[in-house]
Amino acid sequence: MLPTIILGLLCAALGVLGFDISCNSNLAVYWGQNSGASGSLPYQKPLGAYCDDSNVDIILLSFLYILKGTGGYPVLNFANICDYTTNSSVPVFPGTQLMHCPDMGRDIKYCQSKGKVVLLSIGGATAQLNSDAATFSQQVWDLFMEGSSPYRPFDDAIIDGVDLDFEQSSQMNIIQFANNMNQLFKSGTRKYYLTAAPQCPFPDANLGNLLAQAHVDMAFIQFYNSGWCDNSKYGLPRWPQASIS
Ligand SMILES: *[C@@H]1O[C@H](CO)[C@@H](O)[C@H](O)[C@H]1NC(C)=O
Repeated sequence: MLPTIILGLLCAALGVLGFDISCNSNLAVYWGQNSGASGSLPYQKPLGAYCDDSNVDIILLSFLYILKGTGGYPVLNFANICDYTTNSSVPVFPGTQLMHCPDMGRDIKYCQSKGKVVLLSIGGATAQLNSDAATFSQQVWDLFMEGSSPYRPFDDAIIDGVDLDFEQSSQMNIIQFANNMNQLFKSGTRKYYLTAAPQCPFPDANLGNLLAQAHVDMAFIQFYNSGWCDNSKYGLPRWPQASIS
């Protein structure tokens, strides 16, 4: 245990350096669903605003919530920042429901320049999780990473990995998806991460098999919405109270 403790202290002391996977002091933040808004205001700020905060190490773009929408392409939603269903000025690529969010592309690069890791979270509370693992893994690589496609939601910005926040059952073979992604990651020129966001009951109903059978780099456990194992059982507020300005 001692080496771990020393590493933890060293990482905390060097916390200003940004993300380091060998540290236990990384702060991961889900951004994109305007969750901090009370009523309708204040709205979440653009992504880049949160990357000026040196406490933040990992930002999870939330969410890619439909795996296979119109035209066989996935569908994104980022609430007040990029959502074609509520803002008719937001463009979608022809024959799809896939949005073009160029401001987010610029912000992703800005965040990366500040040492943050930017991941795309797939799933969420209202997701539609059915696709074919082979098709979907290739799409994620082509649309958001080092593959190529005429349909690039974030233009030439390259995300640092994907997060699986499956909160419903899926007919997609998630283990095959993870294996494919890890294989594609090896073919790239950067370091990529595959992460998962299980709820706290163990094993997680939708991600248990993934965590047991595939390689996952990090897990962001949901200690806020699962009854007997959430924060409220430890004398803490059920919902995280921290805010980032
Ligand atoms: C709607 O989207 C456009 C294009 O991204 C953006 O410039 C505008 O600020 C958005 N409007 C609102 C009300 O969010």
